[in-house]
Amino acid sequence: MALKLRKLSYALGAEVCDFNVAAPMSEAQFGEIYQAFLDNGILLFRDQDITREQHIEFSRRFGELDKHDSLPRDRHPNYPELLLVTNEPNADGTPSNSRYTGRSWHSDMSFTPVPSLGSLLKSWTVPEVGGDTLFANMTLAYDTLSDGMKKLIAGLHGIQLAGTRKINHAPSGLERLAEQKKLNPPIAQPVVRTHPETGRKALYLGDKVKRFDGMTEEESQPLIKFLNAHATRPEFLYRHQWRKNDILVWDNRCTMHQALGDFDETQRRHMERTTVLGTPSGYVVAEG
Ligand code: OGA
Ligand code: MN
Repeated sequence: MALKLRKLSYALGAEVCDFNVAAPMSEAQFGEIYQAFLDNGILLFRDQDITREQHIEFSRRFGELDKHDSLPRDRHPNYPELLLVTNEPNADGTPSNSRYTGRSWHSDMSFTPVPSLGSLLKSWTVPEVGGDTLFANMTLAYDTLSDGMKKLIAGLHGIQLAGTRKINHAPSGLERLAEQKKLNPPIAQPVVRTHPETGRKALYLGDKVKRFDGMTEEESQPLIKFLNAHATRPEFLYRHQWRKNDILVWDNRCTMHQALGDFDETQRRHMERTTVLGTPSGYVVAEG
């Protein structure tokens, strides 16, 4: 049966309509989904009233899942395959560690030597309005650069730093930041990354990169600023407005994203993510 696809924006994304990700699915059927994922960068499945086990099981069709050893504090206590992105306070009343997750432009796990292939985020509780996520098409961003700029950036590596996100400055937040940095030494990633499956080149940058390997921050910043601003031009974006029980799958190799935090933080927002392991990329550097 052919998939019913509806484009989400000019730049990227498609909704797979009338589809239950927990229903039995043949290899051929999943093959169609996977092809749509490669073609569109993001797939949206609405109304997925499914269990954590079913979320994990569907995610496994995309590949082996991360157990989130590099982000141990944000794991679901009973499911290491699920990463929490939530502002629900901890059982002891302290603020959630993950309430500011994703608040700047990034691609998941870019700060590790095995960056993620893709992520599947499920919305369990959403605020009345807002709490949107922005996505950028990094293939389009690369393709629309001039030949001169493509040549200039061809050999560059950006140093990706863990723990650059907004934190809460309580001792627990600072402690968590220090732990994250220790677990994840700085990694240099190619600024132009060739997608291992489509063969297409994409920009690989974002706000975790402060400088290029072999260059100072002062030298690097103007170009990083330009490339990030170019990649996030409005016409290269999709803005997702969450409803409860959405599952959004994105390709971390050719998109980046940012949680906007555009909501009333006294309201609850609870999301859970599986992370599909990718292929090795980049190299460890001594200094961020
Ligand atoms: C993530 C992430 C954004 C959001 O789960 O990887 O960045 O809007 N989340 O929750
Ligand atoms: Mn993310």
